[in-house]
Amino acid sequence: MSWICWFVLAAVIPVTLGTNPGVKVKLTEKGLEYGRQLGIALIQQKLKTIKVPDFSGTEKVSPIGKVQYSLSNMQIVDVGLPKSAVDLVPGTGVRLSIGSASISLHGNWRVKYLKIIKDSGSFDLNVNGLTISATIAIKSDETGRPAVSTVNCAATVGSAKIKFHGGASWLYNLFTSFIDKALRNALQKQICPLVTDAISDLNPQLKTLNVLAQVDQYAEIEYSMVSSPTVSQSSIDLGLKGEFYNIGKHQEPPFSPTAFTLPPQTNNMLSLGMSAFTANSAAFVYNKAGVLSLYITDDMIPQSSPIRLNTKTFGAFIPQIAKLFPGLMMKLLVKTVTTPVVTFEPNNATVQATGTVTAYAIQPNATLSPLFVLNLDTSVSAQVFVSEMRLAGAVTLNKMDLTLGTSYVGEFQVRSLDNILQMVLKVVVIPKLNVQLAKGYPLPKIGKMKLVNTELQVLKDYMLIGTDVQFTS
Ligand SMILES: *[C@@H]1O[C@H](CO)[C@@H](O)[C@H](O)[C@H]1NC(C)=O
Ligand SMILES: *[C@@H]1O[C@H](CO)[C@@H](O)[C@H](O)[C@H]1NC(C)=O
Repeated sequence: MSWICWFVLAAVIPVTLGTNPGVKVKLTEKGLEYGRQLGIALIQQKLKTIKVPDFSGTEKVSPIGKVQYSLSNMQIVDVGLPKSAVDLVPGTGVRLSIGSASISLHGNWRVKYLKIIKDSGSFDLNVNGLTISATIAIKSDETGRPAVSTVNCAATVGSAKIKFHGGASWLYNLFTSFIDKALRNALQKQICPLVTDAISDLNPQLKTLNVLAQVDQYAEIEYSMVSSPTVSQSSIDLGLKGEFYNIGKHQEPPFSPTAFTLPPQTNNMLSLGMSAFTANSAAFVYNKAGVLSLYITDDMIPQSSPIRLNTKTFGAFIPQIAKLFPGLMMKLLVKTVTTPVVTFEPNNATVQATGTVTAYAIQPNATLSPLFVLNLDTSVSAQVFVSEMRLAGAVTLNKMDLTLGTSYVGEFQVRSLDNILQMVLKVVVIPKLNVQLAKGYPLPKIGKMKLVNTELQVLKDYMLIGTDVQFTS
């Protein structure tokens, strides 16, 4: 390969590898502890499905001599997993350790000895001191969803205690000498495959991550992972794309996510960081879709307002309007001209929008006669909140600046329209916007996940959602 190829590769690789996530998810030790509880319940269910094969054979048992025996119909009665722990394995995933576990089973015994004597009954077996240790790797699958797999597993069984119902005492000799070890081996052999099964059973759940979630008729948000999860000493961190797109038309905005770091310490199971990039990609999509515009007519202004959208009201400030277009109703078109910009500063989410306001007189034949175009610079403050599994908001007007774009009615003092325009923004535009914002957009979600004890803070460049989760089945 020539030096120029190396040079090109060197220039390209860091860019493609360096895709910063727009949304970050941190699973804390508290979250892991909740995961342990759910996982142990699954493993317990799985271990209850252990099938113990029938045992039979012929052995010499003192003091009887040759005995034909069989143990059959063995059923697991209970699996006890009283002690377990989950530890993070940096770079890989988690280690699950189960100790002091026990399995109880019930079955039937049958013996034949001294050629003609037959006896039978039932028994209870208790296997104690079981340990299981499994390392579980967490990766990203080809669709950007998390996937888990068991990379190693070891199981040991401790001692077994049997209680025969009926029969003679030499049955214990038969058991301890010939059956005990084989039975424990048969159990032990099944444990790891079942644990591995229980772990892979999590994958269908993990596959429900909404990697592409529809927001409304215009937008969807992508939550696929941009890289494999990072497992450190204290947390598992996922980087999700967190980008809004036009439905079906994925055009990249002319800006990209900046790196941000979630705080390490938290009292919650999950931390979710939503970057300003995510919000800005939404602004890009809606602006591109042409939906950030609104025609305002007089019927949208509250009846109680003395200010009306007609040439009489506006004529009070711009006399030419009353003179040239007497007795006509008016219409305003408010729209953005560039993508609004969202900024997150500590405790402060602000949206800055640049747009225009075009005023028309409505002729009796419905023709619109343009009166003027104003340039509008606004800044609104946003309150953001989590509602169900959605992130919603509401904005209030901070400030508004008007300058003249074009006048079709001669010169006038733009400042004289400040109050009217402020009123229009406050009573029409912002309430309409807030109806949309209140609907919110979906947060990343797996299965039937519910958020509890949720708190949201606005920090520099991202919003931090600290939350506990609950899975309902
Ligand atoms: C929030 O930040 C904007 C600028 O980013 C500023 O104009 C506004 O005054 C701030 N609001 C508060 C409450 O600090
Ligand atoms: C509508 O009325 C206005 C003013 O009277 C006139 O200038 C315009 O040509 C009319 N347009 C149509 C389509 O009739």
